[in-house]
Amino acid sequence: MGEVAISVKDLSFAWSDSKPVLQSCSLEVPKGQFWMLLGANGSGKSTLMRILGELLVPTSGSFSVDHPVGFVFQNPDHQLVMPTVGADVSFGLVQENLSWSETRIRVRQALVSVNLPDFERRPIYALSGGQKQRVAIAGAIARRPQVLLLDEPTALLDADTQLDLVSQVQSIVKDRGITALWVTHRLEELDYCDGAFLLKEGKVIAQGSPKLFKEKLYD
Ligand SMILES: Nc1ncnc2c1ncn2[C@@H]1O[C@H](COP(=O)(O)OP(=O)(O)OP(=O)(O)O)[C@@H](O)[C@H]1O
Ligand SMILES: [Mg+2]
Repeated sequence: MGEVAISVKDLSFAWSDSKPVLQSCSLEVPKGQFWMLLGANGSGKSTLMRILGELLVPTSGSFSVDHPVGFVFQNPDHQLVMPTVGADVSFGLVQENLSWSETRIRVRQALVSVNLPDFERRPIYALSGGQKQRVAIAGAIARRPQVLLLDEPTALLDADTQLDLVSQVQSIVKDRGITALWVTHRLEELDYCDGAFLLKEGKVIAQGSPKLFKEKLYD
């Protein structure tokens, strides 16, 4: 394998002294690839994503993720904090000390790449679920991340919008050489990824090509 952008080794995590949510969980995502993470409810997917995004600290084990990291939550209402689309996408750029014109360029480019070119002045409350999810992704990519972590970004979307979004994200990450890890329950999304991991009770129990996953693991 070439260079690795996301590496997880023997990671464990437990809330206090309850049963561990992650138990010697290990995985590697090669640089520039788009991988998916599957597993039943409660198998630890969001916990792993939060550790990778440095929102939680593991109990033991190690991990490394290329920086900067962009994080997209399952529910865009938990992520979009500003009143308009343009303000929200530029919000994440505040720490980067960019000039006003550079900020405007980044915001516009990010909105073009998620197919919302004329949405800068739109109020967030007037967007559909799929549009909100794309604004959240624009906010994450405006920061020019090396790695994009997406926790069930299609969970609230209908079937057509869902596949539009996954194919759009696939082309964004491929165009920009971003490494992405995408959590999903929906097997039809596997067609867009380079490979997938299956998490069970906090451990990666299978990994491989989308074809292998569809044929072997879920039949
Ligand atoms: N703040 C918390 N305190 C205690 N337990 C928690 C907390 N957050 C999550 N858990 C527990 O950790 C386990 C793993 O949760 P996690 O959210 O990682 O699962 P998941 O694979 O993302 O599930 P889903 O498919 O439902 O999103 C679950 O049993 C959950 O109840
Ligand atoms: Mg989850």
